[in-house]
Amino acid sequence: MSLADTSNPGDPRAADSTVHAGGFVRSGKVRDLFEIGDRLLLVASDRLSAFDVVLPTPIPNKGRVLTGLSRFWFDHTADIIPNHLLGTDPAALPAGYTDAPGAAELRGRMMLCRRAKVLPVEVIVRGYVAGSGWKDYKRTGQICGIDLPAGMRESERLPAPIFTPSTKEEVGHDQNIGFDAMVELVSGPVAEQVRDVALRLYARGAEIAEKAGILLADTKFELGTALDTGELILIDEVLTSDSSRFWDAADYEPGRAQASFDKQFVRDWLETQPWGKTYPGPELPADIVAGTRQRYVAAFERITGASFERYLQEDLIAP
Ligand SMILES: Nc1ncnc2c1ncn2[C@@H]1O[C@H](COP(=O)(O)OP(=O)(O)O)[C@@H](O)[C@H]1O
Ligand SMILES: [Mg+2]
Repeated sequence: MSLADTSNPGDPRAADSTVHAGGFVRSGKVRDLFEIGDRLLLVASDRLSAFDVVLPTPIPNKGRVLTGLSRFWFDHTADIIPNHLLGTDPAALPAGYTDAPGAAELRGRMMLCRRAKVLPVEVIVRGYVAGSGWKDYKRTGQICGIDLPAGMRESERLPAPIFTPSTKEEVGHDQNIGFDAMVELVSGPVAEQVRDVALRLYARGAEIAEKAGILLADTKFELGTALDTGELILIDEVLTSDSSRFWDAADYEPGRAQASFDKQFVRDWLETQPWGKTYPGPELPADIVAGTRQRYVAAFERITGASFERYLQEDLIAP
């Protein structure tokens, strides 16, 4: 399916898209997508999704945290696999964008990208037993058909990181699948290439995060076939708080669930609210917005070693 096929001008979320310009394709939970010729413009909004619900209250500059982190990681993984990132400078966009309402929002949020045919699997790597992996392990002693040592505790580090693909469900939760099922979906050679790349990407991410005192419990990548060259490329966002479980190494203790470095704060507050975890979620009070923002910024600063204020001022990822 081409991106244009998924275009839905009536999508209510189009109304709060970050920039109002032509070529609007659709809004994901967090990103607004635009088509510019054969390229794709991804703009990360400040929308926060928790328990799969996009909340009514934005977190100021959260989208810039996600884009800044992804830019850092594309730079630090380019030797492992080529990626979709072409540019981040709003001035390089066609006039319809630079003078559109909301154009000032592009800086720090945008990624001009090569378009890809997205692989129909979530490319997940786990270094620790958590989330749906822990559920599967308790039930079967395996995760995605991979045998694991008996008697592992929740959040324990795996003997070695494992590749645990899942389906991409349009509705409902993604389902973990075994490697054989992935072969059915994308062919053997592609599945093997993806597994190899994913494990190397995870190792790179875990190594850099650990130096910053953050454990990369697990993470989800998206890969696709570039429409321009046909090669396999890394797309979407990379190793961000939204696509990964980041744990504070200082608080790590196997045998229980771990608090996520940044999102747990808002999740904990949401758990105290009377709502059914369905749309629409509750408005967030100012102190919860501020605390969440501060934690996202801390994750950015610890991992990149850069100043977020400088990123905002100069669009640079530097100390
Ligand atoms: N280079 C690319 N080519 C085509 N699609 C892409 C590319 N990079 C990211 N995407 C898609 O853009 C969307 C990003 O928006 P997002 O808000 O993260 O969506 P979601 O709610 O699905 O997580 C995802 O559907 C992702 O698969
Ligand atoms: Mg996404």
